[in-house]
Amino acid sequence: MSADTPSAGPPSADTPSAGPPSAEGPPSVEALRARRDAALAGLAAVTDEAGLEAWYRSVLSPSGEATGWKRSIGKVPKEQRKDFGQAIHEATGALELAFAAAREAVSAAALARRLAAERVDLTLPPRPRRRGGLHPLTLARRRIEGIFGAMGFQVYDAPHVELDEYNFQLVNIPPDHPARDMQDTFFFDHPDAPDARVLRTHTTAGQVRAMRELGPGPLRVILPGLCYRNEDITTRSEMQFHQVEGLLVGEGVRMSDLKGVLLEFARQMFGPHQDVRLRGSYFPFTEPSVEVDVRCALCGGSGCRVCKHSGWLEILGAGLVHPTVLRNGGYDPATHQGIAFGMGIERVVMLLHDIDDIRQFFRNDLRFLAHFR
Ligand code: PHE
Repeated sequence: MSADTPSAGPPSADTPSAGPPSAEGPPSVEALRARRDAALAGLAAVTDEAGLEAWYRSVLSPSGEATGWKRSIGKVPKEQRKDFGQAIHEATGALELAFAAAREAVSAAALARRLAAERVDLTLPPRPRRRGGLHPLTLARRRIEGIFGAMGFQVYDAPHVELDEYNFQLVNIPPDHPARDMQDTFFFDHPDAPDARVLRTHTTAGQVRAMRELGPGPLRVILPGLCYRNEDITTRSEMQFHQVEGLLVGEGVRMSDLKGVLLEFARQMFGPHQDVRLRGSYFPFTEPSVEVDVRCALCGGSGCRVCKHSGWLEILGAGLVHPTVLRNGGYDPATHQGIAFGMGIERVVMLLHDIDDIRQFFRNDLRFLAHFR
């Protein structure tokens, strides 16, 4: 059968030999069988749903030809009725069976056509997905939090919009202290207002908050987050940057505790054979104060461009918490001592990856960010 014939049409249309039964009375049994065969032939040519429907309407429906045969029984002479009735019964049965089979064949063919048309080529390589990643500063902060977390430090979140009091005064930087010049920032209120608010210039601002909230027992916290300063933007300085502050308070805490904690941190962050070096320095909120260097992770200490041929990289400021700061936090400096340190996260990442422009961190340039996925 030709697969493309959309509809074979009603069989009576192209098989006029037997004619409709009503015109010249009932057909003979032979004529009936011929009509049945013609209808079957017509059905065999049907290939689609529309053809099926047309065939059904003209043959098996209440107004169809086969139904007409049953109605014509009354016109058949009594003695022929039995044979005629049986012939009708057989013919209609055959047509109904054939119709059911044709309907299945048509739907199977339709399904096969759809499957062929919608075939998916599983051998095609998938389209590459554009994958995002965490920002290098987020990755570094999480690593730092993990290292100190393992040493028992909990993360303490302090506000970015901070009172002048916490950012400066309570950490031993009174209103006219020269250290304020190095940490000029953005004021929300007039600097002379009693409750002046600033964008915090360092995470040290959260020290007294942490002590007041979690003290006066032993304390071990890190305070990570953004800080702000009124700086010219250059390859070395931004007006926003991240710090991680560390603060440990307890009885009998000493400088050697500071060195031990920082050495452990340096080895986890920069390499198992790291050394740290403390150099005397000055901060208003620590006494004594030190700058802490780690051996250059890029040249291993032999000297290179990044460490300016010194073999050492300065990574943070630190010291013993100043007695005034301890007192402001609710501790008695006669019984409790503390160590504190503050490092810039950008600086650590720049040293680790030999990045020479701090502005890259805030530029959202995917060519830069994609390196750290
Ligand atoms: N707050 C200091 C800074 O921003 C760093 C520091 C923190 C130094 C804690 C000593 C102790 O430069």
